[in-house]
Amino acid sequence: RDELMFSYKGILYPITICSAEAFKALESFEARSDDVILAAYPKSGTNWLRRILIDLIAISQKKTPGEEGSGNAEKPEEIPYLEVGDPEKYERMTKLPSPRFMATHLYPENLPTSIFRNKVKILLLIRNPKDVATSFFHFSNGVAIFPSYETWDDFFTDFMSKKVAWGCYFEYLSEWNKHIDKENIMTITYEELKENRALGVKNIAAFFGIPLTEEELQLVVERSSFRSMKKKSEKTHGTIGSILFRKGGVRDWKNLFSEDQNEKMDKVFEEQVAGTKLGKMLN
Ligand code: PPS
Repeated sequence: RDELMFSYKGILYPITICSAEAFKALESFEARSDDVILAAYPKSGTNWLRRILIDLIAISQKKTPGEEGSGNAEKPEEIPYLEVGDPEKYERMTKLPSPRFMATHLYPENLPTSIFRNKVKILLLIRNPKDVATSFFHFSNGVAIFPSYETWDDFFTDFMSKKVAWGCYFEYLSEWNKHIDKENIMTITYEELKENRALGVKNIAAFFGIPLTEEELQLVVERSSFRSMKKKSEKTHGTIGSILFRKGGVRDWKNLFSEDQNEKMDKVFEEQVAGTKLGKMLN
């Protein structure tokens, strides 16, 4: 396990895709006021919102999502992870045209300060912590960048004691909670998107000021269904696709959590998150 992760400012990250050098370089990254950031802890549905955002960008550029030759990529790399890559990537990013889109799993305090100073628009996605842990466990066992676990109990212990990549989800939520009243931040939950995708897409489009016809809305909604994304997952995500698009539902945690684990997580949630605005959105 230790070989696959390194610690930076008290948080673990996968060594194969992140580095302390890149994190250092990221500190002086100069955000532009028209950058767009998708913030989500791992396994909260980041790739789902990447899909929606990529299609909304296409529409805002008068292209048809998914249409051959429309110029809009099917690939999630269109919205790259800010903290993943070599230290020189930030220099390269200075040459990209606006608007630049990026995703991040980082705590807000570990993002470059220019993001907040320049009031960059941030879409924050959160998900029920029990489902996050469940998804994270299966994903850890499916991909090489994360340690694999012999038992769910071992993973649960690590998840609850900040020994998984990108830190502790409860801390993540408390830290982001300090920012969510800012007008440049919109928060959406996985669960509300699951319940009403059309409404979620409409709200996101409105936040970014992208007008949508009924037809365009339906297209984005259809293309972001779990079934449609899973079907195309090899094309969009390569071999990792079938592992990433696992179940795409709510309350799968019931298949893993013991009564004791359920109570433990409820207690931590109650103590650290429940009273906050983000906590209430997850209740
Ligand atoms: S990662 O690896 O951190 O970037 O993973 P992330 O994309 O954040 O989260 C993966 C989970 O999101 C689910 N997912 C979806 N759910 C519903 N609808 C759609 N379209 C969708 N796309 C992805 C995915 O299935 C993972 O959750 P689990 O519970 O493991 O299925």
